[in-house]
Amino acid sequence: MIDPTDRTTHDAEHDPRNDALLIHVNGALVPKDEAVVSVYDSGFMLGDGMWEGMRLYDGEWAFFDAHMDRLFDSCKAVSLDIGKSRDQIRALLDETAAANGMTGDAHCRLMVTRGRKAKPFQHPSLSRWGPTIVAIVEHSKPAAGLAGGIRLASVPQVRGLPHSQDAKFNSHSKLNCVIACLQAEAAGADEALMLDPHGFVNTTNACNLFVVRRGEVWTSTGDYCMNGVTRANVIALCRENGIPVFEKNFSLYEAYGAEEVFLTGTFGAQTRVASIDGKPVGDGSMPVTERLRTLYKGLVTRTVAAQKAARA
Ligand SMILES: Cc1ncc(COP(=O)(O)O)c(C=O)c1O
Repeated sequence: MIDPTDRTTHDAEHDPRNDALLIHVNGALVPKDEAVVSVYDSGFMLGDGMWEGMRLYDGEWAFFDAHMDRLFDSCKAVSLDIGKSRDQIRALLDETAAANGMTGDAHCRLMVTRGRKAKPFQHPSLSRWGPTIVAIVEHSKPAAGLAGGIRLASVPQVRGLPHSQDAKFNSHSKLNCVIACLQAEAAGADEALMLDPHGFVNTTNACNLFVVRRGEVWTSTGDYCMNGVTRANVIALCRENGIPVFEKNFSLYEAYGAEEVFLTGTFGAQTRVASIDGKPVGDGSMPVTERLRTLYKGLVTRTVAAQKAARA
């Protein structure tokens, strides 16, 4: 039986060391209780900022370049000058991890906002002192309870068209996803299964979604969801290992009938889905998902070793 409190894809095992972290705030390492930003900060006031979640394995931020590609592309698209190189970002993350005694089993949330505003209004030019850069690095192992899988509910809230707010922005404002999550919670589920504007299965409020049908791995076209780093890695692993994989439109009808359903994200890698709208997924066995989990672990080990060698 799964503890009902252990049911989001971002539940980590409790670690008391997280009560006394040092947080990176604009170049300083600040005790957690004192780590604050201005009430005039554009991230606080408007959700005007971008973030990345990364995992630390053996002293390396796995898939660092892919995460930086997404962060720099997102910031460029909204004219947010990060003011730092990728190496400088890596250095501040390394320094924060070292200050907290971490070399692995850690997860960071790196946040970059347009900065502090001169007045409490929307216009981006009012952000005069920026950017604001914060890195929270926590001791983090995904909670064991998630092995039993999470419950999804399909919700009315959709991920919209790219000319509204492109789902590829990992923006501070996650209100669209938060609304979806509230709807799922009201339906008695743990996370929301969000459709695209045409009614096809798209993503969840916090992770990318895959189904397995008759040995084939399907995921959405990618047009309306986060361009997840883990999603791209899983698709690549399928292709390299002879597992048929398709980015395609499919409906709830086909998701309900899938043998396996799993989610991907940096935090939890591959998380099993137990049910959708109260309908149990398959017979509980997850051979393809388990194979992909093993392949993904191998990819992380190889990638981290290559990153280390490149920096030696
Ligand atoms: C809405 C959403 N989908 C998917 C993901 C997973 O992306 P990644 O695999 O890069 O962690 C995230 C993580 O930021 C997200 O916010």
